[in-house]
Amino acid sequence: MLSDFDQAGPVKFVDLFCGIGGFRFAVEKVAKARGITASCVFSSDIDGACQDAYEANFGERPSGDIKNVESHLVPDHDLLLAGFPCQPFSIIGQKRGFDDTRGTLFFDIARILEVKRPKAFVLENVKMLVGHDGGRTIRRIMETLRGLGYHAEFKVLNALDFGLPQKRERVWIVGSRTESSIQWPSGGISMKPLSEVLEKDVPQKYYASEHIREKRRNRLKSFTTPSIWHENKAGNISAYPYSCALRAGASYNYLLVDGKRRLTPREMLRLQGFPDTFKIVCSDSQTRKQAGNSLPVNVAEVVLESLFEQQEWGEEIHKGVFRGPVQLTVLEGKGNYHGKRAEAQNRREA
Ligand SMILES: C[S@@+](CC[C@H](N)C(=O)[O-])C[C@H]1O[C@@H](n2cnc3c(N)ncnc32)[C@H](O)[C@@H]1O
Repeated sequence: MLSDFDQAGPVKFVDLFCGIGGFRFAVEKVAKARGITASCVFSSDIDGACQDAYEANFGERPSGDIKNVESHLVPDHDLLLAGFPCQPFSIIGQKRGFDDTRGTLFFDIARILEVKRPKAFVLENVKMLVGHDGGRTIRRIMETLRGLGYHAEFKVLNALDFGLPQKRERVWIVGSRTESSIQWPSGGISMKPLSEVLEKDVPQKYYASEHIREKRRNRLKSFTTPSIWHENKAGNISAYPYSCALRAGASYNYLLVDGKRRLTPREMLRLQGFPDTFKIVCSDSQTRKQAGNSLPVNVAEVVLESLFEQQEWGEEIHKGVFRGPVQLTVLEGKGNYHGKRAEAQNRREA
């Protein structure tokens, strides 16, 4: 038997470093598509504005600093979700195992896994984690997770391959107490066109000054519309029919739609796959930071879907009729990134 999960009850999950709830949107949608519910039993984020946004959208105010939460006080759960901050991982030393991660926020995840022993977890972080310190940091993290009794694996996935018009590569670490591996989603899902992400009547305050617009125009002669112009550190401009990765602390003019205006908070949330039902309750600058810090919801969905399938969570799978409504939703976009077709759908229907 893969899992002792009670099919009648909800999948209980904890949402650590929850931000504005990207993981929560994804897990609730995946569970619903499989005919079950996912119930959040604990959430935590240290940032007051994130707490405000999360409370407005989910009706619960997350706890604060996870370092102050004793592991045994975290409620029992089946699934631990954590998009933990990309700290300077150099803090992880040369010794092996759990204690060596002390002082990092990953340690707080590990200590909760050790005490609460959920059936599975999904962690998300920047791609850079994989190459950090010649691969030693990710090895230490994986050793720690395996030392805690989990079958753990990781993969870098790009949001652009999963229906979102944003190039955002992130590492996803999935673990469970079962021996089998998950079937990682293969991508190839058509990109939602930018035209469906961009708002129509954008207030003047989002437009860059004529000086900045002219400077950009002088450095880029040909481009398609709509496109998002990206200025790199060297001052070079590129324009794509998708966005480069949103960043929390980026300069205001780092990404400009058609070289003219900044993205609105709603557009940034859409680029991360948040539904338009998401209530924006914070200032523009806070929402920009939150969207930049968040995760691509579409990618979280397909990763979680693979995990649910492996864990046999959800009744439809047993009847052999589950065809992943979550996948079908992202396939609704008519865009086609680099000519790729929806292989993921074909894989499911094969
Ligand atoms: C990369 S973001 C994760 C965002 C989230 N996945 C989302 O969908 O919005 C990391 C989050 O960790 C929070 N954080 C940082 N240190 C923390 C701590 N000590 N305790 C709890 N949350 C913390 C930050 O405020 C930030 O919102």
